[in-house]
Amino acid sequence: MAFLEVKNIKKSFGKNTVLKNIGFSLEKGEVLAIIGSSGSGKTTLLRCVNFLETPEKGVIYVGGKLLFDADDPMIKRESEIRRNRLHFGMVFQQFNLFPQYTVFDNLVLAPKLLAKDQIRSRGSYRGVASFKQAQASIISEAEQLLEKVGLTEKRDSYPCDLSGGQQQRVAIARALALHPDILCFDEPTSALDPELTGEVLNVIKGLKSSDSTMIVVTHEIGFARAVADKIIFMDNGVIEEEGTPDEVIGNPKSQRTREFLARFNRFGD
Ligand SMILES: Nc1ncnc2c1ncn2[C@@H]1O[C@H](COP(=O)(O)OP(=O)(O)OP(=O)(O)O)[C@@H](O)[C@H]1O
Ligand SMILES: [Mg+2]
Repeated sequence: MAFLEVKNIKKSFGKNTVLKNIGFSLEKGEVLAIIGSSGSGKTTLLRCVNFLETPEKGVIYVGGKLLFDADDPMIKRESEIRRNRLHFGMVFQQFNLFPQYTVFDNLVLAPKLLAKDQIRSRGSYRGVASFKQAQASIISEAEQLLEKVGLTEKRDSYPCDLSGGQQQRVAIARALALHPDILCFDEPTSALDPELTGEVLNVIKGLKSSDSTMIVVTHEIGFARAVADKIIFMDNGVIEEEGTPDEVIGNPKSQRTREFLARFNRFGD
């Protein structure tokens, strides 16, 4: 069994079935890029995998553990969902930083709450039983993460004083601070000016070399080709084509994939 196994996901909004029996798998340390035209279901798939939407059908395993089964009501309990969500980190198109907190506080807030909660309920957080000790490691880790995304000097700034690219790099660091098994990005650069896109894509590229397992929904076809181990082309709620970047982008089999890529080649990405 692969590290991430997503099987038979079906999701509808009213009568509109947006995901029709979708499945894919990913090994630890691999990067999956999801491409496809607007409305094909990319965001919905990512939200299902992150438990932000509940599919009517399907199962999700991470590291061999069943995290979601649409047919098992126990697994759909809110407390379970919240715990399972910790396996995933999510970076959104619109950054979604907390505007009232500094960059640094954006990074440490959730880990501190989680540490408090886990020490109370299970006796330890990441192997540490004392909150004081856990807090010290959360702080030093946040400092390392800021360095990793190149924003040490913005530690005490507020999100509104940062560029879009900087805000997105903070959002990436914030997601990493919770140690997700799988980091998901939903068009992380599409709200950015072209000159800021590169700095965010470079951070994501850097994460690949540090062995993070990632799912990236993107319109940056060149980036997907360079970084992904696997590409899925979605069309109208199904996986129309999947394979290596050389297969899907270099030599697409499906007519729909070819049409989609031709549009990008014409207008640039
Ligand atoms: N909360 C919702 N309620 C009703 N319909 C929804 C909801 N979210 C998404 N949809 C519909 O599901 C379909 C897939 O949407 P989704 O956002 O997953 O597409 P996408 O591939 O991410 O598109 P884009 O590239 O524009 O972001 C669309 O038809 C959309 O209108
Ligand atoms: Mg989307």
